[in-house]
Amino acid sequence: MLHNMKMLLFIWFLIFSYTARISTSLDTLAVGESIKDGETLVSSNGIIEVGFFSSQNSTQRLRYLGIWYRNVSPLTVVWVANNEKPLQDKSGVLRLNEKGILLLLNDVNSTIWSSKISSLEENSTQIAQLLDSGNFVVKNRRETDQDRCLWQSFDYPGDTLMSGMKLGWDLETGLERYISSWKSVDNPAKGEITTRVDLRGYPQVIMFNGSSHIIFRSGPWNGQSLAGSPGSNSALSQIFVFNEKEVYYEYQILDSSIFSVLKLMPYGPAQNLFWTSQSRNRQVLPTSADECQIYAFCGANSVCSIDGNNHPNCECMKGYVPKFSEEWNLAFWSNGCIRTKELSYTDGFLKYTLVKVPDTSSSWFSKKLNLEECQNICLRNGSCVAYANIDIRNGGSGCLIWFNNLMDVRKFSKWGQDLYVRVSPSELGVARKFCCSICNTKPRKEDLDLTTIDLSVLVKATDNFSSSNKLGEGGFGPVYKGTMVDGQEIAVKRLSKKSGQGLQEFKNEVALIAKLQHRNLVKLLGCCTQGGETMLIYEYMPNKSLDYFIFDEIERMSLDWTKRFNIISGIAWGLLYLHRDSRLRIVHRDLKASNILLDANLDPKISDFGLARTFFGDQVEANTNRVAGTYGYMPPEYADRGHFSMKSDVFSYGVIVLEIVSGKKNTKFSDPEYYHNLLGYAWRLWSEERALELLDESLRQQCTPSEVIRCVQVGLLCVQQRPEDRPDISSVVLMLNGEKLLPKPNVPGFYIENNVKPELDSSSTDHNLFSTNGISITVLVAR
Ligand SMILES: *[C@@H]1O[C@H](CO)[C@@H](O)[C@H](O)[C@H]1NC(C)=O
Ligand SMILES: *[C@@H]1O[C@H](CO)[C@@H](O)[C@H](O)[C@H]1NC(C)=O
Ligand SMILES: *[C@@H]1O[C@H](CO)[C@@H](O)[C@H](O)[C@H]1NC(C)=O
Ligand SMILES: *[C@@H]1O[C@H](CO)[C@@H](O)[C@H](O)[C@H]1NC(C)=O
Ligand SMILES: *[C@@H]1O[C@H](CO)[C@@H](O)[C@H](O)[C@H]1NC(C)=O
Ligand SMILES: *[C@@H]1O[C@H](CO)[C@@H](O)[C@H](O)[C@H]1NC(C)=O
Ligand SMILES: *[C@@H]1O[C@H](CO)[C@@H](O)[C@H](O)[C@H]1NC(C)=O
Repeated sequence: MLHNMKMLLFIWFLIFSYTARISTSLDTLAVGESIKDGETLVSSNGIIEVGFFSSQNSTQRLRYLGIWYRNVSPLTVVWVANNEKPLQDKSGVLRLNEKGILLLLNDVNSTIWSSKISSLEENSTQIAQLLDSGNFVVKNRRETDQDRCLWQSFDYPGDTLMSGMKLGWDLETGLERYISSWKSVDNPAKGEITTRVDLRGYPQVIMFNGSSHIIFRSGPWNGQSLAGSPGSNSALSQIFVFNEKEVYYEYQILDSSIFSVLKLMPYGPAQNLFWTSQSRNRQVLPTSADECQIYAFCGANSVCSIDGNNHPNCECMKGYVPKFSEEWNLAFWSNGCIRTKELSYTDGFLKYTLVKVPDTSSSWFSKKLNLEECQNICLRNGSCVAYANIDIRNGGSGCLIWFNNLMDVRKFSKWGQDLYVRVSPSELGVARKFCCSICNTKPRKEDLDLTTIDLSVLVKATDNFSSSNKLGEGGFGPVYKGTMVDGQEIAVKRLSKKSGQGLQEFKNEVALIAKLQHRNLVKLLGCCTQGGETMLIYEYMPNKSLDYFIFDEIERMSLDWTKRFNIISGIAWGLLYLHRDSRLRIVHRDLKASNILLDANLDPKISDFGLARTFFGDQVEANTNRVAGTYGYMPPEYADRGHFSMKSDVFSYGVIVLEIVSGKKNTKFSDPEYYHNLLGYAWRLWSEERALELLDESLRQQCTPSEVIRCVQVGLLCVQQRPEDRPDISSVVLMLNGEKLLPKPNVPGFYIENNVKPELDSSSTDHNLFSTNGISITVLVAR
């Protein structure tokens, strides 16, 4: 009886088994079919197997449904279905139901795990098939397009990334494929370590511990490889797809006799497991792991590199310093570096080569822009700190820009890409742009390097050079006010295309002023030569120029004596810098009230260096056969003979001083009692000991008489006929401060005795017109 019973069970079992496996190949389950613990499906090439297993050292012998490689030892499980819900015994059954859903059932037929499915077709044409790639798919029997399967294990990866598997996102359905470690070596439940494509900013591959702590950043795709790794080779091909539909990384092993998978380990770095069809012993590919691999090992804004002894070293990027220098010096680098200077649109960029680009999670990108456009966008944005190409192939394309902090940058010796880091012009050193090279001159060594500002930036800043932003017309063309995106105000001097004559002066100005730095000189911020336009960009002076105040009935009230005295000495300081203290010795040649600009505090800044000339060594005087300057400010030896020297500037300065004191314009003024210009009038009052009367009437109540008289005296000394009778500017500075005794002045230059009309007035009817406009004029003197 018992024997019969056993026989029956045995036969029943055979029948059941037979019906269950009817007409199926070894790699496939049809609808209604199942495998139970102990049975497996094997892919057609015999390499991959799906079935039940116990994790090796688990004492409980819990059972899991999984996929593993057959041709390798030890057991190499690459996917687990019921990783969170193990079976307690060997009663598990995997079944494909009528709806094409894979079900893992336990001894009481309750579902332990099931495949999610998008199609609910009920025509029983589905099959579940284990492919040679290791992908377990459910699809319609006749469907040959792999991408149109109903369900696939590759969409739900475990801890292993295999050849041909996508790591990333289906953006249309929102499905994310990422790998996550096991909880421990024998517990396949989801652990804390994950490697995924992070979609913040420009997509990049990142290994996380928990939801937000980054362990390692493989980085964004640069067209050849992920930023932190070498590119493809003959054995390995890598791709990264990023379009509206999907974004993923995928690798392919090209040699079918080599097997290699990436396995995330529960407590440590990922392992590259590999074996070959000849040697079936699995090995761990040694990784060249170094400390620079650790995410942000050097903190923010620094570059990690490995020295010859395999030791890491961190270096702040140019323009940055350690946040805490003591700990930094002790090689505690994690707090990183901070900027030393505010970002400015006059910044330049320093190129770092062969680097792993920074964390892109707070980046902005455009695949369409080129590197130059990228730089302009970065420069225009008040928080952009670096840019790079997205794709480094074929000379580079695309634009990636970073904001705020640059994280996790490392230096490689053999791969990596170029990164352009924003630095202030003073940090730039060799990487600076040569403005003058674009101004059609051959760049000379000593030519100055000035930040080039893109025309589109200026168009935006000046509202396309709208007339409402026009500040005035200079000798070379119009000047516009502009407002940069970050709010900074600028003045744009646009060289008019017609003025062929101006170009030389323009270049001159660039070459000279770019080297000058003084609080009483207007600062040149950049230049722009583009689209046939040539422009200089200066700091904006909200209070216009000196002439606007001192010669205006109303505005003159805003400049009380203290301010005027401050302006008088400020101009002297600026001039002292030009004549003595700058590396070059510079004669301005066109000092006048309209070239003295006033900043928000009404401090003076000398501007307009178009006519300036450098002097070398002990040179004190030079000649020109092109006398350029402005009537009323030119000393006699220059107007007559073309001689100029530091003392010509001193003469012009003297005129300005007397104009500031009196509020009267030298050329427009005529002494009511005599045919005197302002200089003659001042001389007459001085010699009659009535110097105080020269002072602008609006100031007479609240001046310091001794200062006024001293200024008149200095002014007169400066406008002496003979250059050698004029003090040099360093003496002027001392005299103004009362630190030097003042000699007695003599009759000034261009002082014409009673009843003789000044020659210049009669010789030209034009010059008043020019002077009132404050324009420099050029007179060719026959020699
Ligand atoms: C299982 O235990 C053996 C012996 O204790 C050990 O050598 C092996 O590494 C363990 N395997 C795993 C996966 O923990
Ligand atoms: C489980 O389901 C199968 C097929 O539907 C059935 O033959 C079997 O009797 C069920 N077993 C239990 C314990 O319900
Ligand atoms: C199964 O049914 C679906 C819709 O009901 C149909 O589109 C498909 O062609 C059917 N497949 C077969 C093999 O008949
Ligand atoms: C992950 O984070 C946990 C908790 O902070 C920590 O104990 C563990 O060491 C970390 N693992 C790695 C690989 O960094
Ligand atoms: C810089 O660009 C970012 C991203 O496009 C934007 O959010 C930010 O407002 C920009 N900042 C400025 C000052 O333009
Ligand atoms: C600026 O003005 C010029 C000429 O007035 C015109 O050709 C150009 O299209 C304008 N550009 C913009 C950006 O408005
Ligand atoms: C000078 O400019 C500043 C800033 O624009 C302004 O506040 C001030 O009123 C100006 N001073 C005069 C006298 O116009």
